[in-house]
Amino acid sequence: MSGVQIAASILNADLGALREAVQEAERAGVDRIHLDIMDGHFVPNLTFGLATVEALRGATKLPFDAHLMISNPATWAPRYAAAGCQTVAIHVEAPERHAATLESIRSAGALAGLAADPGTPVDALSAFAEQLDFALVMTVKSGFGGQSYQPEAAARIPALRLLLGATRLIHVDGGIKAGTAADAVKQGADVLIAGTALFSAPEMEAAVASLRPKA
Ligand code: DX5
Ligand code: ZN
Repeated sequence: MSGVQIAASILNADLGALREAVQEAERAGVDRIHLDIMDGHFVPNLTFGLATVEALRGATKLPFDAHLMISNPATWAPRYAAAGCQTVAIHVEAPERHAATLESIRSAGALAGLAADPGTPVDALSAFAEQLDFALVMTVKSGFGGQSYQPEAAARIPALRLLLGATRLIHVDGGIKAGTAADAVKQGADVLIAGTALFSAPEMEAAVASLRPKA
């Protein structure tokens, strides 16, 4: 069994029934829940925030991965850790100094990561290499689910692997489905994040299984 993990992004689930969506994803066999936090400034979309994450924490024992697509992660990032997220990723493109924020996430008990949109080179993360517990490679422009996977964005993963080494995980996010998951894994993905492919599937368990590398 490969070590590749599947994370369900609930962004494209029924936002009026998120507790049920989280529990449906758990029943379908996902390994993690990916929480897309958007502020309407850093990205032109507004989703849910800390109170929703706190409300969902009791719905499952699965790890929560907070993906903060917000302009001021310094203010919020440690609070998502305190709310029970196992990992918190902030965007390297956010207009702040990230070193202290990454430390604050760790101090609050979560793994600290940087997310990079498709146009951002791996070099932008290298200044923070010592402070990263993981990285989040966007294979779509952050802000919306249901977009098409960008292979050239995934082509950054080998360089990121050289920077992070073999043990720190690389999460890959955007357009992941049966036809694209293999490319992300070939490039070196450790965690495949899928939203639309799971929540639009007629049978979620089969959709989860279709993302896993074949033995
Ligand atoms: C986009 C989000 C992704 C996305 C994944 O900004 O970070 O998690 O919603 O959804 P799909 O799988 O639909 O691309
Ligand atoms: Zn995401």
